[in-house]
Amino acid sequence: MKRREFLKRAGNAGAGLLILRGGMLRGADAPSNKLNIALIGAWGRATQHYDALASENIVAMCDVDEKHLALAAERFPNAKHYTDWRKCLDHKGIDSVVCCTPDHQHAFVSNWALNRGYHVYCEKPLGNCVDEVRTVRANYLKRKDKLATQVGTQRHAHENFARVRELVKDGAIGELQAAYAWGNRQIRRPGYLPAEGEPPPTLHYDLWIGPSPMHPYNPGYFGAKPGANCLNWNMFWDFGTGQVGDMGSHTIDLAWNALDAGLPTSAEAEGEKFNPEVTPVELHMTFEIPANSWRKAIQLHWYQGGMMPSSPSKYVDLNKIDHGAMFKGSKGFLICDFTTRLVIPFGKEADMTYYAPRPKDKIAPPIEHFQKEWINACKTDLKTSCNMEYSGNAIETMLLGLVAYRVGKKIRYDGATGNVIDCPEANELIKKKYREGWTLNG
Ligand SMILES: NC(=O)c1ccc[n+]([C@@H]2O[C@H](COP(=O)([O-])OP(=O)(O)OC[C@H]3O[C@@H](n4cnc5c(N)ncnc54)[C@H](O)[C@@H]3O)[C@@H](O)[C@H]2O)c1
Repeated sequence: MKRREFLKRAGNAGAGLLILRGGMLRGADAPSNKLNIALIGAWGRATQHYDALASENIVAMCDVDEKHLALAAERFPNAKHYTDWRKCLDHKGIDSVVCCTPDHQHAFVSNWALNRGYHVYCEKPLGNCVDEVRTVRANYLKRKDKLATQVGTQRHAHENFARVRELVKDGAIGELQAAYAWGNRQIRRPGYLPAEGEPPPTLHYDLWIGPSPMHPYNPGYFGAKPGANCLNWNMFWDFGTGQVGDMGSHTIDLAWNALDAGLPTSAEAEGEKFNPEVTPVELHMTFEIPANSWRKAIQLHWYQGGMMPSSPSKYVDLNKIDHGAMFKGSKGFLICDFTTRLVIPFGKEADMTYYAPRPKDKIAPPIEHFQKEWINACKTDLKTSCNMEYSGNAIETMLLGLVAYRVGKKIRYDGATGNVIDCPEANELIKKKYREGWTLNG
């Protein structure tokens, strides 16, 4: 039996106790129950994962900047170092991968890792175009009985996410009619940065560019404090998707979690003039989301860069909520951010006697710790809150909205095949072209 399967089966055998090969029982934190993790993108955002990962074996680390590898080695001195994640993934004995690279390598690292049978925690967003997300999700679905995945929208662990979902599903605003989410971050750039200077000797710049088309080195893509450097490159189409993949991944999760939605049947978008180098700041996207067993078909809206839905009440200034969501029902509105919620019932039934809160024993239990949820899932039941199916659907929807923005018209979508209906120019934008030598499916 492979070590990974052994860990999983043993984990299923009893809460906190493991049956080892010799039949001995040990506590769940015994050394033999540790995951063997490859940490890819070892500094920056990864530093926020160090504490959660410290309970496991970090056996390999990959970073394109050797200076960052040296910093990460202060915390994980026993890991073998790599600068090319393709080689790192072949390190002997890995069973799990944590990917904290820039966005344009997420789908690649995730897909290669799944192909090798590893559990994957991937920072958000799961991919930079519809096809990347569909490829990784399909691969995960083939292996979901063996592997645990989690996409890094850790705000999902705020209990407010579950409470908002319960209010919407239990009818606190009546029958759901529409959902809205927005973010106000605005980072404007005119275009790719011009060539400037030489990459420092520790930085493997060609590997940083990876599958994307080559752009000349400029120090402006680098050097921000850990976890904030993504704001130096994520607005450029070849590296990120701007606010859609940045805060949009977190904020759409707040709405998506309450919808039980599949893929949309259409997308349309309005916003600032299209710039082929830089993603839009001002953007409003609208999706038609099919009905499900508990609600009718609804529209889902995403706003960013100052474009906003109108407030249902003159007493509520939505502009004061930086990243938020709103649900419109037949009997009122629910407005929320990541940690707070507000129900505004209206009309004759504002006494809310139409609504019965669910009993305490039916309330979703807390997630506690988002990264640890994945670590535990790898060892036990493989269940996480934001696996690559749930998070893949949410970000595929958002990325389809960017396709609609780029073609400048409403597009109709077949989620089963991943095809835009009757719009060849939109179908061209579902996929990206990669640099020679790079493949998504390796
Ligand atoms: N979940 C959150 O709240 C949150 C917060 C911040 C960033 N992030 C995500 O984390 C990711 C990284 O963001 P960041 O600000 O740390 O970016 P960054 O530019 O600092 O990159 C992170 C690390 O990856 C390394 N790296 C770059 N390319 C690599 C490659 N091809 N292979 C291996 N290592 C590589 C960098 O040298 C750096 O050490 C982004 O995808 C971002 O969306 C998530």
